[in-house]
This record gives sequence, structure tokens and C-alpha cells, in this order.
Amino acid sequence: MRTAVYLDHNATTPVHPGILAKAPEWLAFWGNPSSIHSFGRGPKAVLREARQSIASLTGVQPLELIFTAGGSEANNLAFKGLVTKRKHYVISAIEHPSVSKTAEWLRNQGCQVDILNVNRSGAIDLDELRARVTTETAMVSVMLANNETGHIYPLKEIVSVAHAQGALVHTDAVQALGKIEFNLKDLGVDLATFSGHKFYALKGCGILYARKGVTVNPAIHGGAQERGRRAGTENLLAIASLGFMCGKKGEIAAQSHRIGELRDHMESRILREISDTVVTGPEGHRLPNTSSLCLDGVDGETLLMNLDVRGFGVSTGAACSSGNPEPSPTLLAMGLSRQEAQQSLRLSLGWGNTLEEVDRFVDELVLVVDRLRSFDLGKKVGYGL
Ligand SMILES: Cc1ncc(COP(=O)(O)O)c(C=O)c1O
Repeated sequence: MRTAVYLDHNATTPVHPGILAKAPEWLAFWGNPSSIHSFGRGPKAVLREARQSIASLTGVQPLELIFTAGGSEANNLAFKGLVTKRKHYVISAIEHPSVSKTAEWLRNQGCQVDILNVNRSGAIDLDELRARVTTETAMVSVMLANNETGHIYPLKEIVSVAHAQGALVHTDAVQALGKIEFNLKDLGVDLATFSGHKFYALKGCGILYARKGVTVNPAIHGGAQERGRRAGTENLLAIASLGFMCGKKGEIAAQSHRIGELRDHMESRILREISDTVVTGPEGHRLPNTSSLCLDGVDGETLLMNLDVRGFGVSTGAACSSGNPEPSPTLLAMGLSRQEAQQSLRLSLGWGNTLEEVDRFVDELVLVVDRLRSFDLGKKVGYGL
């Protein structure tokens, strides 16, 4: 029997086998890292080492990192914890719900929130940003890379516009970590978000980077962990696993290169062999692993379910909106029609994918799309097996 093929790495990633091998060693340090006695010393050292490794990959100081339970919590903390007298925020139209919904919450608290448009290529307009940022703007938040289309955003330029008005910049870098090389100090951002489970580490560890000098009040009150910015005993195993992954700088570069070639091969085969199919925003600067496609006349959910029963895990949009029949807000914001958005498929490759798997997937996709189109399954009709 052939093994299932996972092509949904932007939703989450499998745990790296090296972590499974190291876990017993970390688990031996079951003490509380805050304890003064000897049982706390081992865990404290594991925590320190992980923090150092993450800081060195992202180009920041270890104590500028605040461990949280995940990317969503870190995004919430960036908005709710930031200490500022200013009451205006600017976010892009394609942010993850953990940013857009938090900004909406701030709006309900009396703040003003402006949403930056994106065009059909997924790009933002820096002139629009210039027009929106004022000396009243507390923070601009634009993600480093989009989870659905893979588009990468020009943070350096965004920082230069925002800083000219004294506004801070936050970037949700959850999808960028481990997929592309970047250095937060070079980008110049003031706050940034990461999540371990998108980068082959265990679930339950996220990070908010807050540049030295940026004050963040806790959203979770209690003990003095994370220098008083996030209370609660640390999830040592998950943090250690993310630290372990951040030590793999060489492998990140090699895998990104290999995966980029696989993605390009997959896209060119799909475009050649399946008529009336387009890549969404192919001209934009994209993550090497992500492909967002629109297949005319094929309902995305029906396609997903047909591929699932054949052993292929794909997505039609963000995983956290599965079960939600509404088309992806990101694709709608880019100017796709509801129908185009509903005919979309997201493929996100990862470290374990091979050329054989990708070819097997495309072979199957050609057959399934052909079959669905022959049944005229442009409309939603369930499994259609
Ligand atoms: C861009 C982006 N930001 C934030 C998150 C939330 O991260 P977490 O699942 O760790 O809460 C996700 C997860 O889908 C994401 O893709």
C-alpha cells in the first residue's frame, strides 16, 4: 500500500525525527526552571540554550524573546500588551485572524484601525501606507509571509515608512521561520511573532520578539516568567524542540532550495496538464514551498475531499477556517471573486516531500480534476467519489 502524501505544511508540520531522539534527554529535566535548587538548574539551562539558538537564527538578543503557547497568543500579546499612548493601528487586509480579529477587538475598545489593501498579485501599496501612517499611529502590522499564497512582504520598506512617523512595526513571521532566511535586526521590525509547530517543532510554543526598549505588558498575569511579560511555567519540551530546529541553519537553506525546485516543477506540470488553471499571484515574491491555485470549474472543498480519500492531504485555505464554508478572506482581499476563491487549492510542501510524491500527486490531481469537470462539479456536491 502506498503511503499518504502530506502537502499541507503551512497548516502544521510533522515533528522532526531529531526531536524524537532528543526528547528523553529534555524530559529528564522535569524540574521547574524557576526553582532555585538543583532540580531547576537543568531545565533552566535547556531554556537558556533554546532561547540562544532561536535568537541567533533570527538575529536578535535572547532576552528580547518572550515564550508563549503559540503564534496566536504572541500576535494577541503584540497588540494587547504594547504600551503606547497612540490609538491608531494599520494592518494589511491579508493578516491571519489572530492579528485581524485582535485588531478588531482594539477597534471595539475605541482605537482606530485602518486596513491596507492588497492587489491581485498580493502586494501592498507603500504609497497607501505612507498616506495612512501618522504621528498618531501606534503600530503597523504586516506579515512577513502569507500562509495561503506564500507572498513575502517588504518589511524593510514598511519599517522605514512607519518609523518616519514614530510608529512601531510588528510582523507575523510564523510562516517565514524555517522557510526563508531573514534577520529581524536587518528588517528593523520592533515586534515579531513565531510558532514552533509550523517549523517541525512540538505544538505549544510560540514567541513574541519585542525589541529592547519596546514595553510589553503581560496578557497573562501571574508569576515573573519571561521577565514579567508572560506568566506561567514554561513548556520546556516544546521550547527545547524549537530551539533544536533553529540550530539547523544549513538544513533550512538546503531544504528551501530543494523545495523551491519541487514546487516549481509541481506548478509547471499542473499548469501544463490541467487546462484553465492559474497560480494566484505568481509574479510576487513567494515562499519556496507554497502554491495557491485556482482551478476553473472545480469546487475546492470537493477536490480536497476527493484527494483526501486517495491519500493526499491538501488545503483550500487556512486550516483554521476549515469547516467554514465562506471563501478565504485573503483571496477575496486580493480581488478574486467568491467563485474563484471557492475554486482554490493550497499546496504547501515540506522537508519530507520527494519528487516521486509530487509527481504521484500531480498524476492523481489530473485524473480527479478531469473527472469532476466531466460531472460538471463546478457546484458544491459533496464527495462525488
Ligand atoms: C500566519 C500565521 N500566523 C499565526 C498563526 C497562528 O499560530 P498558532 O497556530 O501557533 O497559534 C498561523 C497558523 O495558522 C499562521 O499561519
